[in-house]
Amino acid sequence: MSEKKDMEENIFLIEKAKKAKENSYSPYSNFKVGAALLTENNKIYTGCNIENSSYGATICAERTAFSKSISDGEKKFKKIAIASDLNDLTFPCGICLQVISEFMPKGKIILQDKNGDIKIYAVSELLPCAFKL
Ligand code: THU
Repeated sequence: MSEKKDMEENIFLIEKAKKAKENSYSPYSNFKVGAALLTENNKIYTGCNIENSSYGATICAERTAFSKSISDGEKKFKKIAIASDLNDLTFPCGICLQVISEFMPKGKIILQDKNGDIKIYAVSELLPCAFKL
């Protein structure tokens, strides 16, 4: 894929993540997160964070997207974009990085910084020592 097409795809995924964020159920933290996951078959699965009054039952936006996709039979991925209302980069939490690493070890994480610029991270860069069995 050309660099231009790759960048267009990244911007498209960020927009999808921003839209998914609006479905966030986050009455406890008031912190909305959205994610857009691109499969190897070029399908996009979105997710939002879903909180619970029993806080530990909360699921992050990234893992919602993976759960939707994997339960739909799509298990190989290229990229995930993540958006929040923070006016800067929102990195995936440690648990999400471990899940991302399980299913997309060679994938890319797409974020947007406070200037609107797209930043791309390798999964292995954010979780260099993933736990493996
Ligand atoms: N959250 C995510 O959705 N993704 C992350 O990677 C970090 C945290 C959510 C969980 C919780 O609903 C809220 O953000 C505050 O932690």
